[in-house]
Amino acid sequence: MAKFFGRIEFPCTIELGRGLEGAITNVTQIGYVDGQAGALIYRGYSIEDLCEHSNFEEVAYLLMFGKLPTASERADFETKLQQGGTLPEPVMHLIEAKPKDAHPMNVLQSAVAALACYDEESLEVTHNVSDPAAAMKAETDVAIRILARTRTVASAIARARLGRPLIQPDPELDFTSNYLYMMTGEKPDEVTRRVMDVCLILQADHGMNASTFTAMVVHSSLSDMYSTIAAAIGSLRGPLHGGANEAALADLQTIGNPENAKTWSQEKMSKGEKIIGFGHRVYKALDPRATVLKRHAEVLCKQKGFESLFETANTVEREVTAAMEAKGKKIYPNVDFYSGLVYHALGFPTPLFPVIFAVSRTAGWLARVLEYLPENRIFRPRAVYSGQTDQTYVPIDQR
Ligand SMILES: CC(C)(COP(=O)(O)OP(=O)(O)OC[C@H]1O[C@@H](n2cnc3c(N)ncnc32)[C@H](O)[C@@H]1OP(=O)(O)O)[C@@H](O)C(=O)NCCC(=O)NCCS
Repeated sequence: MAKFFGRIEFPCTIELGRGLEGAITNVTQIGYVDGQAGALIYRGYSIEDLCEHSNFEEVAYLLMFGKLPTASERADFETKLQQGGTLPEPVMHLIEAKPKDAHPMNVLQSAVAALACYDEESLEVTHNVSDPAAAMKAETDVAIRILARTRTVASAIARARLGRPLIQPDPELDFTSNYLYMMTGEKPDEVTRRVMDVCLILQADHGMNASTFTAMVVHSSLSDMYSTIAAAIGSLRGPLHGGANEAALADLQTIGNPENAKTWSQEKMSKGEKIIGFGHRVYKALDPRATVLKRHAEVLCKQKGFESLFETANTVEREVTAAMEAKGKKIYPNVDFYSGLVYHALGFPTPLFPVIFAVSRTAGWLARVLEYLPENRIFRPRAVYSGQTDQTYVPIDQR
């Protein structure tokens, strides 16, 4: 297992690229992406193993606390999630008051930021630097509430867009079932719950990506956790980050059926166009999340009557992968190629796709800022100044 760790010896010499490529923010034990091997691990466990045997609550605990919970720790964590997930009435009204066609990520961001106004503990804890252990415990409790509430907000957004009354969590349901129940008003069947759980596990953490770095930068000023997560949501919202899954799904729908998939793929490639849902900056092998999702997509699509869409995706994958391999290029499907298909088969409207991603990634954001807190130092990089240095002020009437 350890062989795919690219360990870094400190002090080290690095080459910095645009977008801080090559920069190292900190040392972490939370998660690791091995792009060459096509592997993703959380706290030493492969995501394949976690998707097979675990569930989202347990994975969130693993990320935040560094180990798999015992039965009593898990029960305690679940209780905290259940108790912490209810939204204050004014936040429910805020969500309902937003325009129905507002971008769901903007609503999510503002509702999460607003939650700080109703959680006094969240405003005090990080400033208690004289008692780090107490600060850590209080901050962790706030983090658990944020995870539960972000999910409730996400469900509320789905309903508010349709003008339906919002639903608070059902104390009898687990995290994922509650998410689906609050969104649809119905308790999910086992296949739906399981696939959703796997989606949440798969996107919970992924190295020092833009939104994770955003969360760390904001929290490093000892800002409150709600501001931290709201900022990270803002970062995730951008099209360069929040997912190409919408576009990948749109392509599959345009292709229409598996018979058209071969011609479509060949035409795209012959024009030198990029195929959305393929390739990755880090993975130079098959994205392991895509492999897991594909298996679930197949089962789900069969159950929900989307066999043709799945077969279309499968054919595109076969065609593109074979053509790329023939050219010696390491271009494989990434997580977005199959996640859009899965969310569509689950019945989610496409504007909600990044919101689902945000609920899942909140676990990773929280884990990483909690890990950094004991050794906190405010992030303060520098820019290279290339402007002028010898200007003299000119009054406005002389310019
Ligand atoms: C993800 C992505 C931005 C990574 O970009 P990157 O690491 O900067 O890679 P580049 O864009 O420099 O591509 C490297 C080479 O692979 C090719 N390539 C990369 N992704 C490709 C794709 N999706 N389809 C076809 N060719 C692709 C490029 O054309 C380039 O070929 P060249 O060397 O002959 O010029 C890129 O693969 C992409 O745009 N994919 C489609 C969008 C997508 O699915 N995004 C979600 C990512 S999770």
